[in-house]
Amino acid sequence: MPPVIFAHRGSSGTYAEHTRAAYLQALADGADGVECDVHLSRDGHLVCIHDTTLDRTTNGSGDVADRTLAELRTLDVSAWKGAAVPPAFGGTGDQFLTLADLLALLGGAGRPVRLAIELKHPSPFGLRLEDALIAFLMDEGWDPESSMLGTVEISFMSFNPDSMRQLAESAPSHMLCQLVADVEPQEVRDALRFGSLAEGALIGVLQRALKEGEELIDGQEVGIAGPGVEYVRDHPERVRRWIQEGMRVRVWTVNTEEDALFLAGLGVQEMTSDYPARIRLALDGN
Ligand code: G3P
Ligand code: CA
Repeated sequence: MPPVIFAHRGSSGTYAEHTRAAYLQALADGADGVECDVHLSRDGHLVCIHDTTLDRTTNGSGDVADRTLAELRTLDVSAWKGAAVPPAFGGTGDQFLTLADLLALLGGAGRPVRLAIELKHPSPFGLRLEDALIAFLMDEGWDPESSMLGTVEISFMSFNPDSMRQLAESAPSHMLCQLVADVEPQEVRDALRFGSLAEGALIGVLQRALKEGEELIDGQEVGIAGPGVEYVRDHPERVRRWIQEGMRVRVWTVNTEEDALFLAGLGVQEMTSDYPARIRLALDGN
């Protein structure tokens, strides 16, 4: 079986991440599935965005969690990318996508599609998002046994082992993907803002999360291991062992032919990419 390819935040190398255009492009690129990060709006809607704040990917600023869906809908989520969106993909000026919007888009694909939902937390401690997500999916008609919602197969991902443990109460373990990444102090400094937590305490929290995440994978409590490609390069024997022990491995973010071939050689079954067509071509040509 060739590796399953997920479009990371949609085909986000081509169009702005988490936009209708990026997801439509992912379907056109022949991706088997798409990945989506979710946050809660102030009024409890599940919205598709990576960052905790609006600043990088919208023309707004401040925290996503401080805005209602109606307020978020007034923002432009695609202009920052500078990629002209053709009319067939909705033209420029994309609005915030909700998870409900994305499910409707994928349901209209005319073929089965996989959806990998990544739960993002403003801090490693909040757990409200899991409840909201499961309640929403149940309402939409999601079947917890098959994890299907119509023609969409839903898996769940998080760096936070507590998320996995909580989701395990509702979702089948083979649809749970524990994300893992080596903890790089400089990246922590550059990329994360965790309120009043001191940097040392934050690194401790992340190191514990990494250890617990690896334990969930080794104990086979989740069915999918989700390392970053750098983690795989650092720990190829560990990843090979996971595969030999029956674990599915879904690697992010695989954007080069070299990485795709390296991972395929290890036996990795799933890859997430900003450029799914490029990765498909690399794998098909070999
Ligand atoms: O697919 C997992 C990957 O998306 C995790 O990292 O920062 O892109 O959400 P990030
Ligand atoms: Ca993600």
